[in-house]
Amino acid sequence: MTRSVEHADDGSGSDDGHLADGGHRVAAVVVAAGSGARLGADVPKALVRVAGRPLVAHAVRGLTESGVGAVVVVAPAERLEEVRASLAEAVSDGEVVGDPAVVSAARSGAEPGVHAEEKLSARGDVRPWVRVVAGGESRQASVAAGLAALAELPETAVVLVHDAARCFAPPAMIRRVIDAVRAGHGAVIPALPVADSLVIAPGDAVEDYVDRARLRIVQTPQGFSRDVLVRAHAAAPPAHESTAATDDAQLAAAVGETVWTVPGDDAAMKITTPRDLAVARALFGAR
Ligand code: C5P
Repeated sequence: MTRSVEHADDGSGSDDGHLADGGHRVAAVVVAAGSGARLGADVPKALVRVAGRPLVAHAVRGLTESGVGAVVVVAPAERLEEVRASLAEAVSDGEVVGDPAVVSAARSGAEPGVHAEEKLSARGDVRPWVRVVAGGESRQASVAAGLAALAELPETAVVLVHDAARCFAPPAMIRRVIDAVRAGHGAVIPALPVADSLVIAPGDAVEDYVDRARLRIVQTPQGFSRDVLVRAHAAAPPAHESTAATDDAQLAAAVGETVWTVPGDDAAMKITTPRDLAVARALFGAR
């Protein structure tokens, strides 16, 4: 079931919540392991550049600017180093990229295994924890790989799952998702109304019309209490490319969780085709 979260958004959202709110640490999994075949580029989609930065770097920046303290980027297995390098170059000065224990110890003088962001904040020097891991055969498998990497951050209470392909999701929207999860909603999706008329037409002929007023377009990042997301993925059928879930909220719904909506944003458009890329360059190319 999907319900709407009452939301009085002033655009400011939660401030620096991953640090200030010990009970609700926010981490994100950014899936960027798709080939991007429909884009027709000569590199994986996540590495295609807009405004001088790869899409995956825009995605990570959007999250860290929204107060997310830890990000696992799930990348094509053969491109891990390239993705790491592009993040190191693009995400705020001195970005933390690499093995979390090593980075944490090196930067904070703390023992390996402690939460990097916590120790860094103690110095008043806040940098997100970013890790790059290899993806799987399907989006669902890639999310599962990212979630597994978050096992290293046991204090994480809220997990966002975001498509690198929606790299211009605005921070105000991301904070709406975070705030709704913090408010106690276990599964939250950004959603938009549908502008077009819609029909069911599996072949050439229209079988039925659909009441578009009841439909919503689903975006990312989707937000979950960590327990819900872990439970949903554990219960999901094995992820083969053709049968895997296309988003995570449907897995949460399948284990009985109510899925809540908050208002999405056109800027969180999914970059899939060359036309989408041209639109993104026109809209965001000046960044
Ligand atoms: O293929 P689709 O457009 O549904 O992909 C949505 C997101 O999932 C993209 O950001 C893509 O990089 C990611 N993905 C992934 N691993 C896969 C397939 C897709 O991380 N095996």
